[in-house]
This record gives sequence, structure tokens and C-alpha cells, in this order.
Amino acid sequence: MTQKAMVDHLLYLLIGALVLMNTQVHCESNDIVNATILMSAVAKGAVCLDGTPPAYFYRKGSGDGANNWMVYLPGGGWCSNKTECLKWPGSTKKVKPVYFGGILSQDMNINPDFYNWNRIQFKYCDASSFTGDVEAIDQETNLHLRGARVFKALTEEWLAKGLANATNVMLVGNSAGGLATILNCDRFRALVPNASRVKCVADSGFFIRAKNLPGAEERESYYSRVVEFHNITGSLPTSCTSKMDPGLCLFPENLVRNVQTPLFLLNSDVDEYQLRVKVKPHPADEPFWQNCTHNLTICTSGQLQTMRDFRTTFLKTLEEIGYCSSRGLFINSCFIHDFLFKSDMVTGNGAPRLGNKTILQAIGDWYFDRSLVHEIDTKNDYPINCTIS
Ligand SMILES: *[C@@H]1O[C@H](CO)[C@@H](O)[C@H](O)[C@H]1NC(C)=O
Ligand SMILES: *[C@@H]1O[C@H](CO)[C@@H](O)[C@H](O)[C@H]1NC(C)=O
Ligand SMILES: *[C@@H]1O[C@H](CO)[C@@H](O)[C@H](O)[C@H]1NC(C)=O
Ligand SMILES: *[C@@H]1O[C@H](CO)[C@@H](O)[C@H](O)[C@H]1NC(C)=O
Ligand SMILES: *[C@@H]1O[C@H](CO)[C@@H](O)[C@H](O)[C@H]1NC(C)=O
Ligand SMILES: *[C@@H]1O[C@H](CO)[C@@H](O)[C@H](O)[C@H]1NC(C)=O
Ligand SMILES: *[C@@H]1O[C@H](CO)[C@@H](O)[C@H](O)[C@H]1NC(C)=O
Ligand SMILES: *[C@@H]1O[C@H](CO)[C@@H](O)[C@H](O)[C@H]1NC(C)=O
Ligand SMILES: *[C@@H]1O[C@H](CO)[C@@H](O)[C@H](O)[C@H]1NC(C)=O
Repeated sequence: MTQKAMVDHLLYLLIGALVLMNTQVHCESNDIVNATILMSAVAKGAVCLDGTPPAYFYRKGSGDGANNWMVYLPGGGWCSNKTECLKWPGSTKKVKPVYFGGILSQDMNINPDFYNWNRIQFKYCDASSFTGDVEAIDQETNLHLRGARVFKALTEEWLAKGLANATNVMLVGNSAGGLATILNCDRFRALVPNASRVKCVADSGFFIRAKNLPGAEERESYYSRVVEFHNITGSLPTSCTSKMDPGLCLFPENLVRNVQTPLFLLNSDVDEYQLRVKVKPHPADEPFWQNCTHNLTICTSGQLQTMRDFRTTFLKTLEEIGYCSSRGLFINSCFIHDFLFKSDMVTGNGAPRLGNKTILQAIGDWYFDRSLVHEIDTKNDYPINCTIS
């Protein structure tokens, strides 16, 4: 074994061991899913940042789920220049298995509405929310910026393998993958015209511009650089790019209104990642801000006010988009980023609830039209630690 292979093997064992430790609770080790590399995508120029082929993780559907399909887009942030992209893990050379939890779980008790669906998780290896499209390969760094082609190649593969004949379809993603879900929702809908029901769920992808809060210029200029570097403009809806700078068209507040396919927004109004990384407190509240975002009990009143201000802006931004009955909403005040793949966060006694529904109940009710779901936590105007110890 080479040293690298050994490290990978150890990591694999470690993941296995972690899952085994959890077995008593509810997991089974076969919730770990290996990657499959899509070699045929290379000929289409659909490759990861380092030129390696794209990959996916797949679990076959069964029973009454055999003809239902979920496509899951994971998160991982973005990169905006050569230095940042070279550090970003954009490769499938040593692709590790992933754990299918939460909405991906095959356990009927955890995931009663979707456990037996066909579930495909696309590997996120392009750092552009599956939207980049640069023809040229950078000579100096060998960077390939081809996220849109990766999405297309993986989708085409699965259309041919049964997705085209699906009855129920759902595009789901978290974080950068939640944003990818919003960006690709209508395009994806158009690829499965024969499906009787197609809906999209974006978890923790509602990154706000928050023009009134510190750091707005950085938030805007970062997205502009991402759009420029990956040549994303062509992947963005013209309904947005015709009105404003394409960089602003990565903010869901400028996109959601025009998404035609039913869309569910799941997010915290005190999103942990946005508060930790994208929003700065006022200078007076900056000392030990990072500590506060790791342990809410030590936050100063000024720091908690920063979180309340974020929440107010978040809810106002949502309100400005307007309400539409096909849109699902589940906006809580958990100090959390990413819910859907975490079983404890989406189901069970300890999981956060709104309207007495867990996240998976809410999504199931909305998806199957059992009820409208328009849940916003208006009671808690402070961040709650929803992580069970
Ligand atoms: C995943 O790959 C590992 C290592 O190659 C192998 O031992 C395991 O059986 C595979 N699991 C599945 C479900 O195919
Ligand atoms: C690349 O982007 C990162 C993140 O925005 C930034 O910190 C860094 O200065 C940039 N590097 C160059 C060479 O522009
Ligand atoms: C879709 O269904 C048709 C008719 O049953 C069948 O001929 C075709 O092979 C199916 N396509 C896929 C991709 O499963
Ligand atoms: C949709 O169904 C029709 C009729 O069965 C078929 O001709 C067509 O190819 C299907 N479209 C797709 C994209 O699968
Ligand atoms: C940018 O993307 C568009 C399609 O969206 C493509 O036509 C154009 O050639 C791309 N530009 C570069 C420099 O690759
Ligand atoms: C803040 O966090 C840093 C790094 O984790 C730690 O060294 C330091 O003691 C913490 N300070 C306070 C006041 O909690
Ligand atoms: C958070 O800070 C409090 C007060 O300093 C401390 O008692 C507690 O152990 C800390 N919690 C964690 C998880 O570090
Ligand atoms: C939330 O509570 C858990 C368990 O007590 C703790 O580990 C974690 O640090 C807390 N998170 C924050 C942001 O306070
Ligand atoms: C909330 O839901 C639980 C489990 O679904 C149920 O047992 C309980 O009665 C419900 N509570 C209220 C107030 O509706």
C-alpha cells in the first residue's frame, strides 16, 4: 500500500468505526455509500477542478419508491481565484464514501416519505454550485472550471438510467448545494417533463446580501469574483441578469421570485455559517466573536444583538420576496447551518419543530400536497442551540 492509500484506508475504517459507534442509536453501516466515477463525462469536458472525472453516490429505490428519484447536491462553499481554487478539494482522485443520513436515510423510521426512493448524491467538485463554464484550462494551474457541465453530465447519465421515466422527482441540496438547487431547479424540471411531480428543496442556501449589515461589500464582491472566475453568467437566469450585476444573481433573494417549480426553503434565520463567516459584528463587538459563534452562552449582549439584527434582516428579506402557496417555508431560529442530512436535526423527539412538525414531516407534507407549509419561528428572536449533547 502506498502511504496515501493507507491513509485513505484508515479514514475509511474510521468512518466505519464512527458509524458503528452510532449503531445502537439508529444507523446501519450500510448507510455508507461508495462513490462511482463517471469516466464517460470526461469526453464531454465535464470534469472537476483538477480535471478528474465527476462522481456520484447512489442507492437504488425499492417497493413503492422504485420509480421515485431524489437528486442531492451537497455543499462545500465556493472558490473565487486560482489560490483559493487550488486549495479547494476539487478532485475525485481519492473520493471517500459518504454517509446517507436524514433525508437520504434508508431507514423508514427516520425518513418515512423518501427512504425507499432512488437517491443520488452528486459529488461537489467544481466549487461553483454546479454552474461554472470556462472552456480554457488554465495552463499554469491546470484548473478546470466546469461545474455546469458536471451537473449536465451527471444528470444525463441518470436520465438514461431511469430518471427520465420517474413518477416523483425531487432536487435537494444544502448550503452551496442549496444555492445550486435554487439555480438549477427550473432547468432540472425541464429535463423530466414526464414526471408527475417535481419539486426542489434548498437547505441553508438562502445566503442574504444584508446590505444594511457590516461586511456587505465583501459579500457582494466575493460573489462577483466567483461569477467572473467561473464564467457563471450564462448559467444564471436572464430574469435576474437583465436587471442587475450578475454577481448579485447568486443571492437567492434575487432568484427565488422567478423560480417556477415548487421550491421549499429550509433555513435558520440565525444561520450559523452566515453569522460566522459572512457577517461581521460591529467593531465594538468583534473581540471573541468567533468564541461566541462556538459557544452561545459566552456571547456579549452586543454580539447577541448582531444575531438579532441578522435575523430581522433575514426575515425582512424573505418577506420582500413575497408569499406564494406552492413555496414551502421552514425557517427556525436554531443556530445551525445545514439540516437535511443530519438525522437528529430532521426527525425524532429532540429535533427542532415548527407547527409541531419536524423538518422531514414538513417537507413530506409539502411534497405530497398533504398540507401547505409556511412555518416561520416568530417566537424566538434569539439564537437557540438546537444541538443535543
Ligand atoms: C465500499 O468500498 C469498500 C472499500 O473498497 C468495500 O469494502 C465495501 O464493500 C464497499 N461497500 C459497498 C456497499 O459496496
Ligand atoms: C483569493 O480569494 C481569497 C478569498 O476571497 C482572498 O482571501 C485572496 O486574497 C484572493 N487571492 C488572490 C491572489 O486574489
Ligand atoms: C422508460 O420507459 C419506456 C417505456 O416503458 C422504456 O422503453 C424505456 O426504456 C424507459 N427508459 C428508461 C431510461 O428507463
Ligand atoms: C415523455 O413521454 C413521451 C410519451 O411516452 C415520450 O415520447 C417522450 O420521449 C418522453 N420524454 C422524455 C424526456 O422522456
Ligand atoms: C462562458 O460561458 C458561455 C456559456 O454560458 C460560453 O458561451 C462562453 O464561451 C464561455 N466563455 C469562456 C471564456 O469560456
Ligand atoms: C477564545 O477562543 C480561543 C481559541 O479557541 C481561546 O484560546 C480563548 O481562550 C477563548 N477566549 C475566551 C475569552 O473564551
Ligand atoms: C461554554 O461556555 C461556558 C461558560 O464559560 C462553559 O461553562 C461551557 O462549558 C462552554 N461550553 C462548551 C461546549 O464549551
Ligand atoms: C450547543 O450545545 C452543544 C452541546 O451542549 C455544544 O457542544 C455546542 O458547542 C453548543 N453550540 C453553541 C454554538 O453554543
Ligand atoms: C405534536 O406531535 C406529536 C408527535 O407527532 C404528538 O404526539 C403531539 O400530540 C403533538 N402536539 C400538539 C400540541 O399537537
